[in-house]
Amino acid sequence: MSTVQPSGVWATAVGVARIRALESARGEAALFRDPLAAAFATAGGLSLSPRTAETPERERSEAEQAAWRRWTGVAFSIVVRTRFLDDLLDAATAAGVRQVVLLGAGMDSRAYRLDWPAKTRLFEVDTAEPLEFKESVLRAERAEPACERITVAVDLRDDWPAALLGAGFDPGAATVWIAEGLLIYLPEEAVAVLLGRVGELSAPGSRMGLTLGGRGVLERFSQDRGTPAAMWVSEMPEDPVGWLAGLGWDAEAFTLRERGAAYGRPFSEPPQRDEGPGGLISAVLRTRDTDARS
Ligand SMILES: C[S@@+](CC[C@H](N)C(=O)[O-])C[C@H]1O[C@@H](n2cnc3c(N)ncnc32)[C@H](O)[C@@H]1O
Repeated sequence: MSTVQPSGVWATAVGVARIRALESARGEAALFRDPLAAAFATAGGLSLSPRTAETPERERSEAEQAAWRRWTGVAFSIVVRTRFLDDLLDAATAAGVRQVVLLGAGMDSRAYRLDWPAKTRLFEVDTAEPLEFKESVLRAERAEPACERITVAVDLRDDWPAALLGAGFDPGAATVWIAEGLLIYLPEEAVAVLLGRVGELSAPGSRMGLTLGGRGVLERFSQDRGTPAAMWVSEMPEDPVGWLAGLGWDAEAFTLRERGAAYGRPFSEPPQRDEGPGGLISAVLRTRDTDARS
């Protein structure tokens, strides 16, 4: 087992694995199956029993109830976004894309659990510690990837394109980029730099799947000290589609709520007053052809 234990921002990746393990345990009703998620969560010291409130509902203060509802929403968002990006990756490979980059890969086990066409190369980019922890769990589980999997240990605020190219990334091949649960941890300027670099490395036919912090989320979670929300620093712009068009991408924005309903998993909480559009982004790189049509 790894001597590295989850800490700081990458501990959130193990928390995400725990939610995926709980979803996978729903059997037929599950929106996806992630057979490795439970191993990541338990190696990180997390319990797999569904989280129950410490105090019975009737004894909870209003603030405790509100916090409980917020975190139920986070679990819902992780489940829905996982399914959304699974579908996006399936669509990308069906369209012929054979190069995948998971930015801030954490405990994402898609290399192991999705059906990849032959010759698919998948790069997992994250910092060294989570990748080391992940490797130790994968070794213990004797997990075998279903594609060519390459890990790249680098901080996404540093010169990660050089590290990715050094690891064998082909900038001449169409790529599908995933940034899931990542951008909310990066300041807006760092998000802009990161997406600019993604654009520079993207050949025609490239695609992108993003999750963005919902409008108002920083304010809504501002009381939740000692939780991952304390590390959230950015939320999506008012017009995510227009913002991405400016960066060269034709994007569609979906809300978690509408995708959840589309997958047969409606969210029971009423919409927040300031709940904005988008949150889940599917984008295709603009080409001269699409420019000429528009
Ligand atoms: C909430 S987790 C999501 C992990 C994964 N994308 C998923 O959905 O399962 C956020 C991940 O982003 C990574 N991350 C955050 N900031 C980073 C940075 N500056 N450089 C590299 N990785 C970073 C963390 O290490 C962590 O693995």
